[in-house]
Amino acid sequence: MQLGSRRWKITIVGAGNVGATAAQLCAYKNLGDVVLIDVVDGVPQGKALDMMESAPSEGFDMRVTGTNDYADTKGSDIVVITAGLPRKPGMSREDLRDVNANIVKEVAEKAAAQSPNCFMIVVSNPVDTMTWVAMKYAKLAKNRIVGMAGVLDAMRFRHFIAAELNVSHDDVHAMVLGLHGEDMVPLPDHSSVSGIPITALIAADKIKAMVDRTKDGGAEIVKYLKTGSAYYAPGASIAQMVQSIVRDEKRVLPCPVFLDGEYGIKGIFMGVPCVLGQGGVEKILELRLTGEETALMNKSADGVNKSVAQLKV
Ligand code: NAI
Ligand code: 2OP
Repeated sequence: MQLGSRRWKITIVGAGNVGATAAQLCAYKNLGDVVLIDVVDGVPQGKALDMMESAPSEGFDMRVTGTNDYADTKGSDIVVITAGLPRKPGMSREDLRDVNANIVKEVAEKAAAQSPNCFMIVVSNPVDTMTWVAMKYAKLAKNRIVGMAGVLDAMRFRHFIAAELNVSHDDVHAMVLGLHGEDMVPLPDHSSVSGIPITALIAADKIKAMVDRTKDGGAEIVKYLKTGSAYYAPGASIAQMVQSIVRDEKRVLPCPVFLDGEYGIKGIFMGVPCVLGQGGVEKILELRLTGEETALMNKSADGVNKSVAQLKV
């Protein structure tokens, strides 16, 4: 942190696997003071203290505090919502909709009451729908709220490409749009290694296998863990988004943003490339898609519209 610059206040709601991992990474990267809040008494306090006791080794100067009281989140610059149930083997993200909608509604209202000018990142699943719920109850402008999904899905795709070619992850770019579910839209034509399209480097059948694995990436981890879902890569994805905002990096990241006619879609959150900086969602980038890709985006949008229509909150 530069001399004289102010410290950002980052609230993370939900001190479970994803929330705690994101808190740890935000602290270790010195992105801001972190407030971890949960309904369970003791868990956010204990995890926050445990993280602070790693500070002498990890060399971060930010404060991590744990609480059950929203008053402690007052004036947060960024609020990340990870509260809610994760899925278990055999469950889809949609199966979490009704229970998580009630949690996200409550959390968004309470967090926004303390921090009406915050930037909100929603993580709870099904994330495209939960971001819509959070916007409704937090009453935030569309440039101040975004979901976390495409960053994670694209990181998974990037990892599979880097592993296949045995090259650095740094040189691999990948784009995954659409909803965060089985109808997500990985885009091989917009994925490259140091500017070389992956379609020129990898056989079509192998690319198809990687696309399918990306779509199934969350379920693959759930199958291994059995009691919950992924959290290291999701935590890293959240920290990357927080960093882009705090440091005004203006990274171009695929995120569920509120679409108001972009890509021919209106009134829902769904994953498209956007610029994240201190102005929040500063820009939405519209890619030129093929007819087939457009059809896949429309199928994704149908899925999100159906999910939102079924909400009971
Ligand atoms: P977890 O079960 O480890 O943690 C959830 C936490 O939320 C628990 O500590 C629980 O006490 C807390 N919580 C429940 N109700 C609350 C409330 N009303 N207020 C405050 N806290 C509350 O679950 P995990 O693995 O951290 O996942 C959290 C959510 O994130 C799940 O819905 C999961 O599906 C989703 N997720 C989404 C990803 C994405 O790409 N968008 C990636 C990974 C997880
Ligand atoms: C994932 O993709 C659970 O949505 C989460 O890992």
